[in-house]
Amino acid sequence: MSASFSLHLVGSSGRLQRFMHQLPTAVLLVNQAGSIVEVNEQLLRVTGYSRDQLVKQPFQTILPYQGSAEQLYEELLHREAESGSNVEIEWRDKQGRSRKTPVMILRQEEQELYLIHLCQLVKETDQSLSERLLGKLTHDTSLGLFILDEHAHIIEASQTACKLLGMDRLNVINKHVDQVFSGIPEQHRLIKKELLEGVKLQNIATSWTNDNQRYELIVDASTLQDESGKTVGAFVLFKDITNLRSFEQKIERNERLAMIGQIAAGTAHEIRNPLTSIKGFLQMFLKSFSDSGMDREKTYTEIMLTEINRINSLVSEFLLLSKPRDIQYCMVDLNTVFVEILPIVESQALLYGIDVRFTSQGKMPMVVGDTELLKQVFINICKNGIEAMGEQGTLQISHHIDQDGDRVSIDIHDTGPGIPLYIIDKIFDPFFTTKEEGTGLGLSVCQKIIHDIGGQIRVSSKGYGTTFHIMLPYL
Ligand SMILES: Nc1ncnc2c1ncn2[C@@H]1O[C@H](COP(=O)(O)OP(=O)(O)OP(=O)(O)O)[C@@H](O)[C@H]1O
Ligand SMILES: [Mg+2]
Repeated sequence: MSASFSLHLVGSSGRLQRFMHQLPTAVLLVNQAGSIVEVNEQLLRVTGYSRDQLVKQPFQTILPYQGSAEQLYEELLHREAESGSNVEIEWRDKQGRSRKTPVMILRQEEQELYLIHLCQLVKETDQSLSERLLGKLTHDTSLGLFILDEHAHIIEASQTACKLLGMDRLNVINKHVDQVFSGIPEQHRLIKKELLEGVKLQNIATSWTNDNQRYELIVDASTLQDESGKTVGAFVLFKDITNLRSFEQKIERNERLAMIGQIAAGTAHEIRNPLTSIKGFLQMFLKSFSDSGMDREKTYTEIMLTEINRINSLVSEFLLLSKPRDIQYCMVDLNTVFVEILPIVESQALLYGIDVRFTSQGKMPMVVGDTELLKQVFINICKNGIEAMGEQGTLQISHHIDQDGDRVSIDIHDTGPGIPLYIIDKIFDPFFTTKEEGTGLGLSVCQKIIHDIGGQIRVSSKGYGTTFHIMLPYL
């Protein structure tokens, strides 16, 4: 066995991790001071520790050896030279159980690092059929799998499952559910401890948002029992059906809009006509009251006129949903749009003590659309953010060019309570509102406008805070 290795592993932790993960054995990397620098997944699996519990800890956490890393290295080399073959070392798992296993130790001279291989029997050939199946499932790209032990530690997580969480597999294995989902309120979590109490899920449709990416999932979950019937763990299995779901949603949405369109078109005009005459007469009254100094009556009439204007704008939103007013396509300078709407947004924010921040990384590009309608969209979404935050908070408006470079995304972020998972599906539905005074038309109108000009609105809300991304093709 060679006593040193000269791979330039350090300095590129990604490379180092890849290298360690490719090894079929359990491996730990230890520095000169005896602290664990990195571990691989096999090691977590055989020891039962999570990565956080090992990194930066003394290597003696696993190897009950009295001396330093260097002494261990020297001793193993010596014993190896004497016996002429692999030597064994004692190691301990998290439960404190000791085992002996052949060991191989390598030293990287430059940084004085020690790579310790515990030659566990985890080669493919030693795996049972069911272990192989599990291995396959955990690497399948469309199936997500979590397995929990009886104490709610995640002992297995597939690649897809980790992608959903936005986490590295190594940082998930053997961690407690509470730790993995820390910062996310219980009701928003993808997996819950209650699973262990026997909550059974079958074909439950749910959605999960991570890193601006929204996943539609079908979830199955159940407990796992031992032969005496005692719960020893649980599993959550899900399939990512995002593509299928968005297709269904499009159809549903079109059907819904067609229906609302019919109702709206039929009634909106009928409401507007009488309103116009009422408004006309009220304006006459207003003038007469004003001329004759009847201040109280004048105030009442002004209130009535304001209320009529409210009804009018509601009816206009209705009409916009049913048969949108012709879009006045023109080149729109988003910078000008924001210069014009920011005072409106800021004045509303001021009322609630909310801070509005507009961060502009350079000039925003030009888009093709309808200036007035776009203003309506941004104002509506900012208004929602302000309303969600209540008192105090920050409304942050920024923009960026998306990954493919073909769309500009205007991101409106609030520090409000976020949108619970169970309603996030519905917020774009006409008339869906959680507000006493809301019409629930705000977002559906926004979505319609943005779709009509070839863009897209996405929402991401994980725990606290919400971000709406308004994505538009730009010139
Ligand atoms: N930034 C946000 N934070 C939390 N919840 C939000 C946010 N934006 C929208 N919502 C939720 O989505 C629902 C629908 O929003 P939408 O703008 O369509 O209607 P509304 O605000 O309730 O009524 P209206 O816009 O007519 O006043 C809201 O009632 C609220 O529950
Ligand atoms: Mg609204």
